Amino acid sequence: MCGIVGYVGKQKASTIIIEGLKRLEYRGYDSAGVAVLEPQGITVAKKIGRVENLVKEAAKIKLSGTTGIGHTRWATHGGVTDANAHPHLSSDHKFALIHNGVIENYNSIKKFLLTKGYSFASETDTEALVNLIAYHFEKEPALDDKSRFLESVRKALMHVEGTYGIAVICSEHPGELVAARKASPLILGVGEGEYMLASDVSAMISRTQNVVYLKDGELVHITPQAFSIITQAEEDVSPVVNQVTWSVEDTEVGNYAHFMEKEIFEQPSALENTMRGRFSEDGSTAQFGGLNLSPVEFRQIDRFAFCGCGTAWHACLVAEHLIERFARVPVEVDYASEFRYRNSPLDGNTLFFVVSQSGETIDTLGALREAKRKGYKVLAINNSVGSSIAREADGGIYQHVGPEIGVASTKAFTSQLLVGAMIALYIARMRDMSFSDGVEYVKALKGVPDLVRKTLEQAPRLKEIAQRYAQFDDMLFLGRMSLFPIALEGALKLKEISYIHAEGYPAAEMKHGPIALISEKCPSVFFAPKGEIFNKLVSSIQEIKARKGPTIVITTEGCELPPGLADEVVYLPECHEAVLPIVATIPVQLLSYYMAVARGCDVDKPRNLAKSVTVE
Ligand code: F6R
Repeated sequence: MCGIVGYVGKQKASTIIIEGLKRLEYRGYDSAGVAVLEPQGITVAKKIGRVENLVKEAAKIKLSGTTGIGHTRWATHGGVTDANAHPHLSSDHKFALIHNGVIENYNSIKKFLLTKGYSFASETDTEALVNLIAYHFEKEPALDDKSRFLESVRKALMHVEGTYGIAVICSEHPGELVAARKASPLILGVGEGEYMLASDVSAMISRTQNVVYLKDGELVHITPQAFSIITQAEEDVSPVVNQVTWSVEDTEVGNYAHFMEKEIFEQPSALENTMRGRFSEDGSTAQFGGLNLSPVEFRQIDRFAFCGCGTAWHACLVAEHLIERFARVPVEVDYASEFRYRNSPLDGNTLFFVVSQSGETIDTLGALREAKRKGYKVLAINNSVGSSIAREADGGIYQHVGPEIGVASTKAFTSQLLVGAMIALYIARMRDMSFSDGVEYVKALKGVPDLVRKTLEQAPRLKEIAQRYAQFDDMLFLGRMSLFPIALEGALKLKEISYIHAEGYPAAEMKHGPIALISEKCPSVFFAPKGEIFNKLVSSIQEIKARKGPTIVITTEGCELPPGLADEVVYLPECHEAVLPIVATIPVQLLSYYMAVARGCDVDKPRNLAKSVTVE
């Protein structure tokens, strides 16, 4: 994995491809490369490090061709070296290939090809595939010119186990590009007299908004004049051209220092977009257009299962809390990666939800497929129209927050929390929640953008706190009930962008072990909002203070803390229980962001991380 860009047209391919790779930088990668069809054959430039290194490398050679492919690699098989960077050439130099995914049987393919005289220059699984394509090309000399290239790719893929999104060029087929996918995203951009190919729409949005989302098992053959799609079984596919609704500005950082900062501050409008048109006319419940389940069918469900990864899993935990609290229906939450293999027994009337911003996370996609295989209806909470998860789910709810570019999820998370709160309301109103409680709940949800705006006004205060605490090496995040998942989220946000070791715990669990970590060197961020357990939370903070642990307490306006208990206090506006997790997320997002900035970290491109994890 990580980013694929291809171009076929009349312009200089390398310039367009490199611009596309720059737009994919946010996804996380460790090397980049480009291959262009030149009159003398395929020319490759690749380099470890940032796309800027590739730009310097490419400047040393002449790249003027109009057909090419480019890649940003996030290492899976083989270390971070120039040789392992994509594109990879076949040993006869007739093919260049870029690949996202994992070829699981690459070793046996490689062994076979070695007996046929093919050689290998890298440690990657990808090189086995490009040589296998070259092998099939040599085996099919009788085929007419057009089909020989496509056929050699199709035949090679028949022998591949694993996942792939690939793009291939061939020196004997100038002006042509073949691409294929299985469980790794690939999108064809239909421009004016040109085509683009990418693993993510943002790579091509500056050239076209007309896109075809390729499906698993499909291959596309592109020339400057036309494209055609077939399946692995050689059936013709009638393509559906979709219009992307967002624009190039949505993918630019504007006046902000980082995408993460921009996306934190975009949350009021993102949340408005998530809610738009989703309340009943009488203002007492939520309504969703894409569930593909009638209210009668929905009413019959007596158990819900939620799956996601990372931040999305935290959103699942909050949804569990709210659905059980307000609708009194049992909910189970699983890490998507665990659900697939643990063969969990689910009740017959269970409705399955998967939560994924990108819609491409392979573990979540795997959980979706496993749930469907077991005969469950699966709905997706997802931000990416046309993504694999959106397509394979039986229905779902789009988040509508626009592209999220910062690797650390922010606006997508609060929007997932909002969708979870709306689902809880929808179910609750079918059961025991009264009309007037429903109206009050809807009012609270409608008010959340303003509450978030108000909380964002504390950014200068959080910046100041962040600067004071940025040099600590460890930090704890503690919360209870619906704020326990927010404690987990705060810890995840901090560790992924600032590399500070952080852990989230239910506050009362402290005394069962983690309290051993407390000292003047380990600060705790404590959620202690107004509510029935406020006094218990205060006691837990006392236990930390008694052991000299510095404390940052996030509480509700008007709440009085005993003197000396909090080293820092951050106030949240008073709010309904259903929206508290959303509002409480804002300070920990800001705190993590400013701490990472104070430590000089590359916030939008944290080390080792990829925006969308398309390998298991
Ligand atoms: C953390 C983060 C990740 C993602 C996870 C799932 O900030 O962004 O933990 O939440 O990789 O990604 P999606 O939601 O795209 O399935």
